[in-house]
Amino acid sequence: MKAAVFREVNVPMEIEEVSVSKPGPREVLIRTKAAGICHSDMHFYNGSYPGQLPMILGHESAGVVEQVGRDVHYVKPGDHVITCLSVFCGHCEQCVTGHLSLCQEPEVRRGDGEEPRVSDAKEALNQFAQLGSFAEMMLVHEHALVKVREDMPMDRAALIGCGVTTGIGSVIHTADVEPGSTVAVIGCGGIGLSAINGAAIAGAARIVAIDMVASKLELARKFGATDVVDASQTDAVATVREMTSGGVHYSFEAIGLKATAEQAFRMLRPGGTATVIGMIPPGQMVELHGVDFLAEKKIQGSMMGSNRFRVDMPRFVDFYLQGRLHLDDLISNRIRLEDINEGMAALNTGEIARSVIMFD
Ligand SMILES: NC(=O)c1ccc[n+]([C@@H]2O[C@H](COP(=O)([O-])OP(=O)(O)OC[C@H]3O[C@@H](n4cnc5c(N)ncnc54)[C@H](O)[C@@H]3O)[C@@H](O)[C@H]2O)c1
Ligand SMILES: [Zn+2]
Ligand SMILES: [Zn+2]
Repeated sequence: MKAAVFREVNVPMEIEEVSVSKPGPREVLIRTKAAGICHSDMHFYNGSYPGQLPMILGHESAGVVEQVGRDVHYVKPGDHVITCLSVFCGHCEQCVTGHLSLCQEPEVRRGDGEEPRVSDAKEALNQFAQLGSFAEMMLVHEHALVKVREDMPMDRAALIGCGVTTGIGSVIHTADVEPGSTVAVIGCGGIGLSAINGAAIAGAARIVAIDMVASKLELARKFGATDVVDASQTDAVATVREMTSGGVHYSFEAIGLKATAEQAFRMLRPGGTATVIGMIPPGQMVELHGVDFLAEKKIQGSMMGSNRFRVDMPRFVDFYLQGRLHLDDLISNRIRLEDINEGMAALNTGEIARSVIMFD
């Protein structure tokens, strides 16, 4: 099969012919139909997060089941699926207490002594997030996918695989936003726009979108933002505090910067909660004013929107088909696997919501 192979930090990927193994007892081989490019792929590509190379990036995808291992009963060849990097074992403490997105069990991977899932003529190719979607096929554990209805278009289904689930999930699961509350979202990429859409679905009364790119703020209104703040023109914290008479109930950081994580905390009203979704590079500290804890302000992280994706993703598909989830507006470009490097570069401009790679 063809795959975009990431061999060296910041060096353009080439499309190579690579080998994929046969499904083990609990594995599923998926023919990739669509894969979104998320900023998390960029964090590894540009080296701000360390990864084991060579690697196939990509983790926001949808496809069709090609082949299943002998113990897989959940799906069969021909089923349409969305993948998720929150691969769960189903029996560890995190899983049985309902925190599937925090499962760390190694048993869902192939062991060191086993044949790798994907390889070239010389060595194993690491699958990013146990998926590696920038490839014509994905060989994954059966707990890395969910079956979805076949009238869901594959390109929009792919977006649910990471950005949508992370954005909406951080609002409805991690932060548990109440109807009538005020929300601010810093960063209007695929994740931030999905958080805005999630806040609208959750019934937030006011949703303030913050970005530095004017076209993103216009787009944010389509997803349900009631107010917008251009952080390239004004002090976002002062503006949000003024707009909301002292700060928001819930803020979300959807970029991955120390400065904006600190802004998220500073724009809270007493009792408010900031949720940091963005991936801040390892080693960087976030500084807060200690006195704010007396006002019961809270800050927390969110991993993949604290999802239970086998339940959440089919619901998000229904939301889209009912017109409540604006996935058509989330796709800025449809590209081919060969255009992967241009697709990655476009992420750095801040101008696009999502590029989606389409496979035949
Ligand atoms: N926690 C998780 O489970 C999880 C899952 C997926 C993605 N992420 C992370 O979420 C973050 C966002 O991902 P994305 O794919 O939406 O990124 P993106 O690049 O598509 O969007 C980022 C947006 O932030 C804006 N921006 C940049 N600097 C800004 C600033 N100083 N102030 C205001 N706006 C600014 C950009 O214009 C752009 O619109 C990334 O760090 C990604 O790694 C985390
Ligand atoms: Zn992602
Ligand atoms: Zn587990």
